[in-house]
Amino acid sequence: MSKITVSLIKADVGSVAGHTTVHEKLIQRAQKKLEEARESGLIIDYFVTHVGDDLQLLMTHTKGVDSEEIHKLAWDTFKAAAEVAFELKLYGAGQDLLAEAFSGNVRGLGPGIAEMEFTPRKSEPIIAIMMDKTEPGAFNYAIFKIFADPFNTAGLVIDPKMHQGFVFEIWDIIEHKRVFMRAPEEMYDILALIGAKGRFVIKRVFPKEGSPLPTDEPVAVISTEKLYFIKGEYVGKDDPVAIIRSQSGLPATGEVLEPFSFPYLVSGWMRGSHNGPIMPVSVKDAMCTRFDGPPRVIALGFNLADGKLIGPVDFFEDPAYNATRTIANLVATYMRLHGPFEPHRLSTEEMEYTTLPKVLDKLKERFEPV
Ligand code: F6R
Ligand code: MG
Ligand code: MG
Repeated sequence: MSKITVSLIKADVGSVAGHTTVHEKLIQRAQKKLEEARESGLIIDYFVTHVGDDLQLLMTHTKGVDSEEIHKLAWDTFKAAAEVAFELKLYGAGQDLLAEAFSGNVRGLGPGIAEMEFTPRKSEPIIAIMMDKTEPGAFNYAIFKIFADPFNTAGLVIDPKMHQGFVFEIWDIIEHKRVFMRAPEEMYDILALIGAKGRFVIKRVFPKEGSPLPTDEPVAVISTEKLYFIKGEYVGKDDPVAIIRSQSGLPATGEVLEPFSFPYLVSGWMRGSHNGPIMPVSVKDAMCTRFDGPPRVIALGFNLADGKLIGPVDFFEDPAYNATRTIANLVATYMRLHGPFEPHRLSTEEMEYTTLPKVLDKLKERFEPV
């Protein structure tokens, strides 16, 4: 079987009654665009969904990552959906389409992208995980647990096909540098970096020598686009997405989902300025309400069949996540009671990327030496 590329590209191009949820008509317009592309043979298959106010395009094709044709298709699809948003006078219509025109690649134009090219196995399960009201570093905790924590992933201990561990590609998104690090050998160094989730972000995970899978093909990829760095001013958080392959020498699907049974704290939520729990929900419940949140995560499972997407399974629809949601809601209340105080509100350093500096600027003149 030749290589397949899976591209998950997302953008907020408008939502209903605030930054809440994507209107059905935008989904339909996106489906129509991608159906045309499927009929023309540009893509093999697609699935359109949403989490919160983000429109999500999952596509399979053979054009490789960073393909101009595929990125143009995504851009045109978001443009078409944004037109509907403008017609319906939806809130934030066209929000994440930061450029006037497409220029070869959607990277740097606003949308978030997770793409990987690989040789599909006999059976290839993939999981698309999508978050709203948070940032790329929100994946660090989960990806580390999945691929490096033996308390999460029993396969790291039990399965000889993955006992050797994995290689992490970590990006410094402020200095625009990257480093490849090996787990378990460099586990503590990896954590020293990725615990600072606003700066060091896991971009990809690769198998190691000894794995039945090729070591140069990623098994997980996460979007790392930061809107602030593109536009130079606050334009919302950079709601991230990831694609993770599972089973047969990789973490089992249940090991991929397990970290989300803990509603850990992420940055984002209201005005991209607050820490709050990430709550796993079904697509049906993937809308942001309370204090524009709390931050949500959905996970959809598919099998690839000659590039076709068989599925999805809406994993977090499962009542097994009810207790997680209850804890998330209690933590949301606990955090909310702090109002504008840290650590509910983000640290001063992180608030630099919000609208707060504009308010503080006005007070500058009033300060006198003591
Ligand atoms: C967070 C988010 C919302 C908005 C908030 C204010 O990522 O999108 O919490 O920041 O609703 O939005 P505006 O400034 O558009 O009224
Ligand atoms: Mg929005
Ligand atoms: Mg969003």
